[in-house]
Amino acid sequence: MEIKIQSLETIRKAARQFVEAMGDSCVFAFYGKMGAGKTTFIKAICEELGVKDVINSPTFAIVNEYRAEETCALIYHFDFYRIKKLEEVFDMGYEDYFYSGALCFIEWPELIEDLLPGDAVRVDITEDTDGSRTVSFEPEV
Ligand SMILES: Nc1ncnc2c1ncn2[C@@H]1O[C@H](COP(=O)(O)OP(=O)(O)OP(=O)(O)O)[C@@H](O)[C@H]1O
Ligand SMILES: [Mg+2]
Repeated sequence: MEIKIQSLETIRKAARQFVEAMGDSCVFAFYGKMGAGKTTFIKAICEELGVKDVINSPTFAIVNEYRAEETCALIYHFDFYRIKKLEEVFDMGYEDYFYSGALCFIEWPELIEDLLPGDAVRVDITEDTDGSRTVSFEPEV
């Protein structure tokens, strides 16, 4: 399916559509060029899921943990951009996150592709010429 993010003003609506389509999947791998809008859309999704605390960019941490207040659901937000060796990912205990049953939103999954769970959902974000974004993914049915 495709979700259009027309602008930052309407990103919450797009995030709501995404949340409605997530189904029972836990791990979502967000592909897209630098600046495509991965962090921004993940932030909107987390807000839509009820995360109240300020979401800091995970630029300097591989993983950030958030909690949705109403449901107490755990969400892990990963940014693998700065990974230099796969060893760093083993050392952080990535399996404990990916197979925890918690929601995992992953930026730069191409850098750890072989470690992604088989049922991870691929999400592509592209910037269109007018500055809007298109999110494409195939949710599990
Ligand atoms: N849907 C959108 N509409 C308009 N501007 C956007 C949108 N999404 C993101 N932006 C803007 O684009 C810039 C980059 O966004 P963001 O940091 O989310 O990209 P990213 O894909 O996470 O990049 P990186 O690969 O560096 O992590 C920010 O200035 C942000 O405000
Ligand atoms: Mg980012």
